[in-house]
Amino acid sequence: SSDQLIDVEGVHAFQPPGEYDFRGPCPGLNALANHGYISRTGIDSVFNIMTQSTQVLGFGIDTATFAGVLGCFGADLYDPTLPLSIGAAPPANQTIGGLLGSAPSGLDGTHNQFESDASPTRGDLYQFGNNYDVQNSFFQELFNLQPQSSSANYDLTVIYQHIQTRFQQSVANNPYFFYGPVELVASVATHLFVPRLMSNHSATQPDGYLNGEVLKSMFGMSGPDGTLTYTHGHEQIPANWYRRPFGDEYTLALVAPDIANMALAAPNVFVVGGNLNGTNSYAPVDLSDLTGGVYSAASLLEGNNAACFLIQATMILFPSAIKGLQTIVDTLLAQLATLTGILGDLNCPQLTTINSSLLEVYPGY
Ligand code: HEM
Ligand SMILES: *[C@@H]1O[C@H](CO)[C@@H](O)[C@H](O)[C@H]1NC(C)=O
Ligand SMILES: *[C@@H]1O[C@H](CO)[C@@H](O)[C@H](O)[C@H]1NC(C)=O
Ligand SMILES: *[C@@H]1O[C@H](CO)[C@@H](O)[C@H](O)[C@H]1NC(C)=O
Ligand SMILES: *[C@@H]1O[C@H](CO)[C@@H](O)[C@H](O)[C@H]1NC(C)=O
Repeated sequence: SSDQLIDVEGVHAFQPPGEYDFRGPCPGLNALANHGYISRTGIDSVFNIMTQSTQVLGFGIDTATFAGVLGCFGADLYDPTLPLSIGAAPPANQTIGGLLGSAPSGLDGTHNQFESDASPTRGDLYQFGNNYDVQNSFFQELFNLQPQSSSANYDLTVIYQHIQTRFQQSVANNPYFFYGPVELVASVATHLFVPRLMSNHSATQPDGYLNGEVLKSMFGMSGPDGTLTYTHGHEQIPANWYRRPFGDEYTLALVAPDIANMALAAPNVFVVGGNLNGTNSYAPVDLSDLTGGVYSAASLLEGNNAACFLIQATMILFPSAIKGLQTIVDTLLAQLATLTGILGDLNCPQLTTINSSLLEVYPGY
């Protein structure tokens, strides 16, 4: 357990961001910066961001790589030493920590590439004009799903409820709501990250336990429980917090069955599509047309198909991003299954093309 206890003292003491530091849509990365695990400026190498995500927060190396390549798409993906901003892209003329060689890109600017609609707590870009701060009401709705008592545990079943609420809210309030395959995977994965990566771990609860205090701290929320308020970039790892056990990092081999189970528990959010003409005009894409008949709405809920489809569709829609994946995984001396290995284990149907012209009817695309 001493290995799992995360140091939040001394050089790793919490310090809120300064005026010129960057923070963005990812609570995990904001917290890593606030504790000096990645640069407190919020600009660090993709390599260091991925490494610290695995070391401190228990991300699997392959999951981190998947996130890393989607997060810096547009940068030179063969070089994970390049700097990335975890928030806005800094002005081209700003030099930061000697890392600058080319202008870093920023996670705020990855809309429809990683940053997506229907996030757990962040607002939809075209509805709020801000896709990086917590919208207090979204967090409050999540928080209220458990009683304010010692029994509160924000586990998977709670997150199944929350993702359905968030999906419905985007349908009802965001005229440009777009939920293509990549956006769906971003929303589903980041919802899963809440219980899977923010939970506290102990011998009696080896799978983790996420109470209200830890949840609030990890999301930078404070104030009375009925009117919780976000402070930009103040995500904090609480004292006495224990990460996932070493050797049980959240790899794609664990993410995939979680996606499959979520698809069974919340099938209504596993529908690729978007609002076509204003709010409440959600129309699904015909999955069979999109995938050349390989998947259908019904088959998506069978076996590992939901995970298969999402991972394959991401690989097809971001070929240049994924091309570098194996190289980066190798560079990171990946000890775990490669993506190809994962897809093999999942026994996926073979998907070779996505007809992305079917997505062009959605204004949010
Ligand atoms: C390579 C490392 C990572 C990258 C590039 C990354 C990037 C991102 C991005 C772009 C988003 C916004 C997605 C959206 O709009 O839905 C996001 C959200 C999120 N990330 Fe990360 N992330 C990384 C690691 C982590 C880790 C280690 C955690 C562990 C706690 C984490 C937890 C979350 C959560 C919970 C959200 C949802 C935020 C919300 O809407 O409430 N991420 N991340
Ligand atoms: C960088 O450019 C901005 C305008 O884009 C300007 O306001 C700022 O003074 C410049 N900073 C430096 C260090 O040149
Ligand atoms: C995590 O769990 C351990 C063991 O139950 C406990 O001592 C510790 O206070 C918990 N940490 C937090 C932040 O709740
Ligand atoms: C979109 O909705 C408006 C009313 O909200 C309607 O006038 C218009 O015909 C609709 N357009 C299409 C293409 O359905
Ligand atoms: C892709 O979909 C569009 C729009 O429905 C259609 O016109 C086109 O023929 C499809 N392309 C392929 C290769 O199936």
